Amino acid sequence: MLGYELSSLKERFQIAGLDSPSLDAELIISFVLGIPRSSIYAFPERIISFVEIASIEDLVGRREKHEPMAYILGEKEFWSINFAVDKNIFIPRPETELLVELSIKNLDRIEFPVILDIGSGSGAIGVSIAKELKNSRVFASDLSKKATVCSMQNASSFSLENYSVLQTFMMSGILEKNIFNLIVSNPPYIPTCEIANLDSEVANYGPSMALDGGKNGMFYLSEIISKAPSYLFSEGVLLLEIDHKQAEICIREINSSGKYSTPVIHKDLAGLKRVVEVKKN
Ligand SMILES: C[S@@+](CC[C@H](N)C(=O)[O-])C[C@H]1O[C@@H](n2cnc3c(N)ncnc32)[C@H](O)[C@@H]1O
Repeated sequence: MLGYELSSLKERFQIAGLDSPSLDAELIISFVLGIPRSSIYAFPERIISFVEIASIEDLVGRREKHEPMAYILGEKEFWSINFAVDKNIFIPRPETELLVELSIKNLDRIEFPVILDIGSGSGAIGVSIAKELKNSRVFASDLSKKATVCSMQNASSFSLENYSVLQTFMMSGILEKNIFNLIVSNPPYIPTCEIANLDSEVANYGPSMALDGGKNGMFYLSEIISKAPSYLFSEGVLLLEIDHKQAEICIREINSSGKYSTPVIHKDLAGLKRVVEVKKN
């Protein structure tokens, strides 16, 4: 029966040391049975078939090994949109919504803005902007073929015709210069030596190429800071997600390039320096 299954799963998830055992149990049951979470409590006496129990067991076993819920359910909510994800795709994080918010703020007075999202993953940033600003044209790049397919599918599921994605290294496949009003990126920025210390759900699952930013985590951030001015219009904006420890070095690189105005650092909801915003001179 449903009520019994729910309490048994909660207990197993508690023993496995998961942070939200009740929520995870509810989500897995409602996903497999195709019912809203509220129905679990409304109909605790509902009988569960052997086939349903087998499917629940399969997902529960994965969750007990701390596989992220987003991979188990195949989706993650970001900017109030459900993005399809799988184990080859970086799971979008709530902090990254700050990049979308600042992008929209910078673009809302431009009639037909042109945007580049570097390292697009699921399309969390670029697809959210394309959906929000219907007159925009969003281009995205990712080195991973699987990520480009995923973001294109996410864009298609909202019938967005203003989003396209290119499989390339950073900006290297983009031949035209001075064409973007805004370049935005959440690139890999974790120092290689710190990856093993991340939360096990992040370190053990998902594509490592989405995390590894090289020796001090600055490889891609530096690449973007040095190359973005060639691709931006004059007064075009660059927005970069960073780790708070990278703020000072980013500011130094931006200032020494001589190609940008004074950088502004934005903090996330946890009060950590999270986004660098700067305008091309
Ligand atoms: C931290 S994830 C961000 C994904 C997505 N933008 C988000 O915020 O959820 C970084 C992304 O950069 C991509 N990437 C890694 N190296 C790259 C490169 N050299 N050129 C383009 N994209 C790259 C990864 O495949 C991954 O999708």
